[in-house]
Amino acid sequence: MRRRLFLEWLVRLVGALWVGSGLYALWRFLRPPRENVGSSASGYRVGPADMLAPGSSRVVFVADRPVLLIRRNEHQWLAFSALCTHRRCGVSWTPQRDVILCPCHGGVFDLSGNVLQGPPPSALPRYAVEVVQGQVYIRF
Ligand code: FES
Repeated sequence: MRRRLFLEWLVRLVGALWVGSGLYALWRFLRPPRENVGSSASGYRVGPADMLAPGSSRVVFVADRPVLLIRRNEHQWLAFSALCTHRRCGVSWTPQRDVILCPCHGGVFDLSGNVLQGPPPSALPRYAVEVVQGQVYIRF
């Protein structure tokens, strides 16, 4: 009888570990590790400047905030909240139109963060970006 109880307990433990590891893998998939690696007087360091080619953009996480980082050309960097001010959908930069678009309800922002079109009630928060010795820093 004790042996049977022990085996039942062992099966439950293995099952709980199996479910736990699956939930952890799902959690890491939904919330990947943050990319910011530190902060300084210049702000939060997000990585080397060559992480973005001129004319491209990406979302980075800075102090747990999603930030849309845009490298418009060789020297012009811009950063905005990556969440639309309407219903907090993720926004993206469209280099062809040189605007920031929200796919959820058609919100359009200019590169100052101002609303050009759609339902967003306010401008997209904009952050300062600085490149110091080849490293990109963002300040809130
Ligand atoms: S969530 Fe962006 S326009 Fe509605």
